[in-house]
Amino acid sequence: MVIVWRSKMSIDKDIIDEDHKTLIKIINSVETALREGKRGKDLMNNIQELKKYTDDHFEREESILKKIKCPNYDQQTNKHEYLIIQLNDIISDLLGLRGERDTDKAIPKLVKTLKSWLMGHVLKDDVKIKPFIEAAK
Ligand SMILES: [Fe+2]
Repeated sequence: MVIVWRSKMSIDKDIIDEDHKTLIKIINSVETALREGKRGKDLMNNIQELKKYTDDHFEREESILKKIKCPNYDQQTNKHEYLIIQLNDIISDLLGLRGERDTDKAIPKLVKTLKSWLMGHVLKDDVKIKPFIEAAK
């Protein structure tokens, strides 16, 4: 099932929310591609988009935090580094999928991991910066 953006995910009613909505869209399209049996180049394009957008989003988020002198800046940038490592692991698992029997079991598990990866970032990490963003407005 695809992820639907909800108001409880809102962090800044601005750039960060728009970025998160786009990340959800990309992850949903990775899921759709996998379910439709797309592999190789099609899947790779979705995954590359996810990687690139994640990097860009973290960069944008960090520059916002820097600008508002958020006390959680270091904590958040460390977390981003860790999230990139986790994402790379998920991606190598996705790209390593082989054969029908393997993929039937592995795909739902990987998609679930990918979704919890994003939801963890939004609902566990970014909610912590929300009060600082609101205070700076
Ligand atoms: Fe974020």
